[in-house]
Amino acid sequence: MKQYEVAVIGGGPGGYIAAIRAAQLGKKTVLVERQDLGGTCLNRGCIPTKALLHSAESYGALSGAKSLGITLGEYAFQYKKMAKRKDKVVKQLRSGVENLVSGHGADILRAEAVLTGPHTFRAGEEEVEADQIILATGSFPASIPIPGADKPGVLNSDGVLALEECPESVVIIGGGVIGVEFATLFADLGKPVTIVEMLPSILYGNDTDVCATMTGLLKDKGVTIHTGAKVLEIQDGLACVFEKDGQTLRAEGQLAVMATGRKPDTAGLGLEAAGVETERGFVKVDEEMRTNIPHIYAIGDITGKQQLAHVATAQGVTAAHNAVGEHRHMDYSAVPGCIYSTPEIACVGLTEEKAREAGYAVRTGRFNVSGNGRSLAIGCQDGFAKLVADADTGKVLGCHIVAPHATEMIGEAGMAIRYGLTAEELGEVIHAHPTVSEILMEAAHDIDGLCCHKL
Ligand code: FAD
Ligand code: NAI
Repeated sequence: MKQYEVAVIGGGPGGYIAAIRAAQLGKKTVLVERQDLGGTCLNRGCIPTKALLHSAESYGALSGAKSLGITLGEYAFQYKKMAKRKDKVVKQLRSGVENLVSGHGADILRAEAVLTGPHTFRAGEEEVEADQIILATGSFPASIPIPGADKPGVLNSDGVLALEECPESVVIIGGGVIGVEFATLFADLGKPVTIVEMLPSILYGNDTDVCATMTGLLKDKGVTIHTGAKVLEIQDGLACVFEKDGQTLRAEGQLAVMATGRKPDTAGLGLEAAGVETERGFVKVDEEMRTNIPHIYAIGDITGKQQLAHVATAQGVTAAHNAVGEHRHMDYSAVPGCIYSTPEIACVGLTEEKAREAGYAVRTGRFNVSGNGRSLAIGCQDGFAKLVADADTGKVLGCHIVAPHATEMIGEAGMAIRYGLTAEELGEVIHAHPTVSEILMEAAHDIDGLCCHKL
């Protein structure tokens, strides 16, 4: 039997970072992965989507070339080449992950792990015993149980990312994060897209101004959006049959994309043999990422917190430190959530509504992209930054941005929340001019009615 001090099961952004950190802290560590290192994020999620979105955004931007003083000849996209470039990016990063894990001194075991007891598991031919175990087995696309969900042409995100040809038209079931990113991808490539979302708006739960702005921007790109619309069936064609306001309607497309959430991947992991408790399928953990079995930790999508790569990574770091005897806690108050639409969306902390529900007296500041010099210089008029602050203390509680490069700016607001900065303090930071990031400073000034670039 192989002996380790720390064993990590699952090599996604949660697991591979936990393994590296445990090895850095001097523990004899093994990382077990049954498929590809990098997990969903690198192979079927964050990275391939962003590679494709970059091609699509670049293509979409060409339609505005004339307004920039550029005359173009004939141009077209070749989806096969876009897909090949995406695969190349993924491959390069995947080999980087492998080098990093082994370079930091952790062993890699290529097999499916099945727990056989609280300290033991089987991984292919190997029997392994470990003092501390970190579970990081991630999630898989959820399908809704409706007739026709298994028809050819109905794809989940894995299927979309494996396409070699661009579909001529797409119906997307679910207007959440995946739905909006895929709608952006195909709409920027000029294809007809329809989103059918059950809830009252797309991206439901985000700041209401963010939802309304993105709805308008997607419609401007030609995307048809049905909200309050529950999909009931998929018929040959392909036609999504949905119910809206008591009426039965249809949306047709060459492909139907199921973007209706993700489920924890724990079946067959042997949680019962180890005595690990779950709740609605998710592994129950405390703030230290410990399960009910004190030397077994769980991190990432299987924990049912925010299903985001950076959350999995932060949880992995926390679990690794605690596995060597520390008592670190996870803090979810400043987790950025980003959507790679054009323009991008980035949010952190509380929305105005959630802050009020939590009992805060709230003040907000807002600045529109149309008043920002750099944004206009790069050809974008759409979007805004909105800052939510506690009226009593002035502390920043939340920030919601729709703007070019929003995902690169949100870290600043996250830092303000994490370290208890006031909006005034954020506004005192000198921001370079001309940058899109000035919209954050202007929104901070606006909280006190002192924004110079706004009447
Ligand atoms: P995973 O990344 O799912 O990795 C788990 C790994 O465990 C897998 O490699 C699996 O093969 C392995 N495994 C499972 N069971 C076993 C076993 N028994 N033995 C051995 N190995 C096992 N998040 C963001 O933050 N930003 C984004 O832009 C973003 N884009 C996304 C786009 C799409 C289309 C999708 C689907 C997801 C996206 N996500 C994004 C979410 C992100 O991918 C996940 O939150 C993240 O990958 C979760 O990390 P994890 O380590 O928990 O699990
Ligand atoms: P999601 O939970 O964001 O959205 C699913 C949507 O499907 C919901 O709005 C829901 O109301 C809708 N829906 C469910 N059943 C329906 C029905 N019968 N008819 C119509 N609509 C229906 O889940 P999504 O988009 O699948 O993403 C999964 C996870 O992946 C998310 O937790 C997200 O955090 C992560 N992700 C993150 C990204 C990022 O950070 N940029 C990008 C893509 C995914």
